[in-house]
Amino acid sequence: MVYFGTKLSDAKEYGSIQKMYKPNDDSGILDDAYTPSGSANLAEPAITVTHADGNKSLDLHYISHAVAKIDDNVSMLTVTLKDPAYPFEVKLYYKTFFKEDVTEQWSVITHNEKGVVTLNKFASANLNFKADGFWLKQYHGNWATEMRPEESKLTHGIKTIDSKLGTRANLYEPSTFIISMDKPATEDEGKVLLGSLEWSGNFRVDFELSPEPSNYLRLIAGINNAAAEYHLKAGEEFATPALVYTYSDHGTGDASRKLHSWARKYKIVDGEGTRLTLLNNWESTYFDFNEPKLAQLFKDTKKLGVDMFLLDDGWFGNNHPRNGDNAGLGDWQENKLKLPNGISSLVKEAQANGVKFGIWIEPEMVNPASDLYKAHPDWVIKESGRPEKYFRNQLVLDLTNPKVQDFVFGVVDNLFTKNPQLAYLKWDCNAVIYNAYSPYLKKDQSHLYTDYVRGLYKVLDRVRAKYPKVPLMLCSGGGGRVDYGALKYFTEYWPSDNTDPLERVFIQWEYSYFFPAIASSNHVTDWGKQPIKFKIDVAMMGKMGFDIVVGKLNEQELAYCHEALKNYDALKDIIWHGDQYRLQSPWGNDVASLMYVDAAKSKAVVFNYLVNNRYNAGTKAPIRFKGLDPQKKYSVKEINLYPGTGSVLEGKLVYKGDFLMNVGINPEVNSYHTSVVLQLDAVN
Ligand code: DGJ
Repeated sequence: MVYFGTKLSDAKEYGSIQKMYKPNDDSGILDDAYTPSGSANLAEPAITVTHADGNKSLDLHYISHAVAKIDDNVSMLTVTLKDPAYPFEVKLYYKTFFKEDVTEQWSVITHNEKGVVTLNKFASANLNFKADGFWLKQYHGNWATEMRPEESKLTHGIKTIDSKLGTRANLYEPSTFIISMDKPATEDEGKVLLGSLEWSGNFRVDFELSPEPSNYLRLIAGINNAAAEYHLKAGEEFATPALVYTYSDHGTGDASRKLHSWARKYKIVDGEGTRLTLLNNWESTYFDFNEPKLAQLFKDTKKLGVDMFLLDDGWFGNNHPRNGDNAGLGDWQENKLKLPNGISSLVKEAQANGVKFGIWIEPEMVNPASDLYKAHPDWVIKESGRPEKYFRNQLVLDLTNPKVQDFVFGVVDNLFTKNPQLAYLKWDCNAVIYNAYSPYLKKDQSHLYTDYVRGLYKVLDRVRAKYPKVPLMLCSGGGGRVDYGALKYFTEYWPSDNTDPLERVFIQWEYSYFFPAIASSNHVTDWGKQPIKFKIDVAMMGKMGFDIVVGKLNEQELAYCHEALKNYDALKDIIWHGDQYRLQSPWGNDVASLMYVDAAKSKAVVFNYLVNNRYNAGTKAPIRFKGLDPQKKYSVKEINLYPGTGSVLEGKLVYKGDFLMNVGINPEVNSYHTSVVLQLDAVN
């Protein structure tokens, strides 16, 4: 694997690449496709093992490869590697999606030794790059501060991004990353790789810049091996999760559009389908609701004009009622005081009001104050010899245990069996794993982090086998678990509990490098000081929802909601399924702009938001559009006009695509017009 870059036009010439590089590498295997340890490789390995006889040396030689055509667009390359001294084998898998230009790469490890082999490190992928310098864009954050970017030039040595949190693995940093080669890439220029591990647990991505030669970068990504060595019996297979990546030499915009197309077509559930707009009650009621209040909320849902009402946390628990975040998790029976007639009557009542009904669950968790905890202490991850340590007053259930998997599946299955008309689930996950000990795993404690996620996926496999299409929202106390391992089962994700629309412009902007708009649940709430227009305009660049008290909206605000929802209905197909172009970054500019264009380049929508409140901030120059047909003429009109206000654009504007892309339009964003939405339609 010596070349990773622009596709060559003559495939035969790939064979000549190797001899062009003269690395000062005595080991001879520094740029191998999957570096072992304990033999010639002394750099960061992709795999480290302890053989059944205690020997720690591994050498992997190429044996064969095969390419299988899955369909016209997808092929699978398998490379088999073997250790000449031990019956130990690694298969590297490269699933390539040609049109989208995306690869998923993983490895499968097996052996036939006499006894158990310990896998000390077991990466999914080991990539090698050559360039005149590398820049890494990575992310960090916490609750309400998800996806804060940082870009830095990689220096010699190893840079690692990782998580050891267990469940809510992305809380402090996700596995998503961007590597620029030769120089930092921009939206439209530069060589760039976007990657993300398809795994909802502990991960580790190492970027090793070799001391000699200094223009070699080795990327090793996989499950985090910290406290996670895995014991593998003879004949057993250990399959690692996939690293998904795409390369572009036209900057991050092109690369992210490739990922979006791939995700919509091949990964996210119903990624090319439709989504429900909704009214959620989390912030309007928190735990304090009952049937009469909900009856009013159903009416509000209809009045607002959205598709569904989503009942959030607080509907369950009787001996330990869920009236706060300190009790009830695990007891998934309707609270009789709040909901004497149960969920089924809520579903019916919602339907009688002409809206669908969805519900929140957090089935992986348990509060010590619950019947479940008392009945099954052995189902809980905790160290028996230490004081319990809680995160949000709760503990994590031991999903390595098949009985716990049955229980968690049962939570979902019961809801749908009893309420076949239930339209939606929001699946939350609010705690990390402290005091990691599984009563089920006994001596194999180091399997916990890996088998937990596998257990979760087993449950989700069962959910999807029985309920293939039902919309599920992936939530984790905000955006603590947004990854393609989980999104394979979900229709959408919750980016952050921070719904201040100013913050959201930044948060959604950054997520948009990796995840398509159709999957981003954006709710209009009371967070932030901006007017409802700004809030709705920000929520529109994704899957729109609301979490407000509808009764508090004045007439104009409600009228604006209706107008915006009507426009959203007309434009959502472009936002959800079209190509996204980031036009002007919120970082370092007064105004953030981005747009979505349909496949035929005949319709587009451009969102512009003021992100700086300083004196005279606004658009001083036109915003240049992207992705249009230079030869087509487009009418440009401002939509989402607040009642009583006129358009910032004078007259009827019709311009050719090349004007719009080379000169652009000034959307006149300033402190009087803090958000401006433009609709473009091709005209003859
Ligand atoms: C955390 C989620 O991010 C919120 O949206 C909400 O569902 C609460 N949990 C409920 O406890």
